[in-house]
Amino acid sequence: MNARRSGGALRRLAKYLGAFVIVCAVGFALWQAQRVLRFYLGPSETTLSQTGFDWRAAEAGTMENTFRFEPSYPFWSDGAAKYRYVQFPAGTKIDNSNPDRWNFPKGTRIWKVFKRDGVYVETRMLYKTGLEPWDWDMAVYAPRADQTDSDKLALSRKNVGATEHDIPAPSDCVTCHGDRETRRPLGLTAFQSPRTGEAGLSIARMKELGLLMAPTDHAPEIPGNESIRSVLGYLDTNCGSCHHEGSTYVTNKVPLRLNLTTATAGRVETTNAYTTAVNRKPYLDGLGTDHYVIPGKPDQSFIYRRMKLRDNGIWQMPPIATERVDDVGVELVRQWILGL
Ligand code: HEC
Ligand code: HEC
Repeated sequence: MNARRSGGALRRLAKYLGAFVIVCAVGFALWQAQRVLRFYLGPSETTLSQTGFDWRAAEAGTMENTFRFEPSYPFWSDGAAKYRYVQFPAGTKIDNSNPDRWNFPKGTRIWKVFKRDGVYVETRMLYKTGLEPWDWDMAVYAPRADQTDSDKLALSRKNVGATEHDIPAPSDCVTCHGDRETRRPLGLTAFQSPRTGEAGLSIARMKELGLLMAPTDHAPEIPGNESIRSVLGYLDTNCGSCHHEGSTYVTNKVPLRLNLTTATAGRVETTNAYTTAVNRKPYLDGLGTDHYVIPGKPDQSFIYRRMKLRDNGIWQMPPIATERVDDVGVELVRQWILGL
């Protein structure tokens, strides 16, 4: 009698568990689907030509109100060549009153063209659709086989154009560019905008063209000598897009901050890299190290060890968007740690 009753209870439990697993799986699938649709159905057009962009014309410099720019310290993309262009609606200005967060005029578009081994493989776009600083729609376009136009993607794509280049899923753009109120451009910023005219639209040139609301003609200084500036600038774009206060992707239990802000960049010693990394302990240690940076000891410094790895996202830093180590960046950080 008792055995029969407990057998029935077990069967009921199994049934509830089965139902629970099914509900979870359906819930997860729906959540994924809404993420894909949220990005795919955004206001950005479905083909690149409809956005008004033609990378060949941009390269030739024949697109109106469109300017090339290169961040002072670019993001490492496994050696892909990248070309960036910004287009402002005629007669508009950037509200640059807060140097840590420029607000671009509604209608601004920024395109980033990727070529790998000389082959055109993708164009990404940030499109300012409203008045708030975070009103950016994001989209990514992959070339058609005949290269006549590029189509907006809903999902990621691997080994594009027979190269090793992978296009991230549109829902991944927010890991670095921020979600909702934190969304922002990462290269066209006060700290990263080109220092010289050769790299395209510098702040001085923006002032000349009447593109700035607050009259300034120089970018905020990154402190330190040439080599320290290179490290701080490198860490800002390559790590600081995720490792900053209020990141939507890195848990706030991780104390590491590698971005540049005007409040902290007055002196080398007050920058986030120095105050949160040098001689500081990580949230979760590993790889036999227990400090982010130990002066003079790169091999015992967690940030250096993780930058040197590519292991499908287990320890490697950055965890996504790269399959090859940035030897130049790694060496820069090694020299910095040795010199501390
Ligand atoms: C791994 C981090 C990362 C991911 C993921 C990422 N970006 Fe970026 N993106 C950056 C950084 C850092 C810059 C600035 C440095 C540079 O361009 O080299 C940038 C620059 C850009 C620019 C040029 C404007 C600017 O911010 O200065 C555009 C446009 C852009 N990204 C669009 C996208 C889109 C669309 C996606 C999703 C398909 C995406 N990005 C995914 C890190 C990322
Ligand atoms: C695309 C976002 C992203 C970028 C870019 C990125 N990280 Fe991270 N990082 C993370 C996330 C998420 C974690 C937490 C999970 C983990 O430890 O793997 C993390 C954790 C870390 C940790 C351990 C933190 C702790 O206290 O446990 C270190 C060290 C680190 N990152 C270094 C770097 C360095 C150096 C760079 C630049 C070369 C970098 N990261 C770029 C997302 C990023």
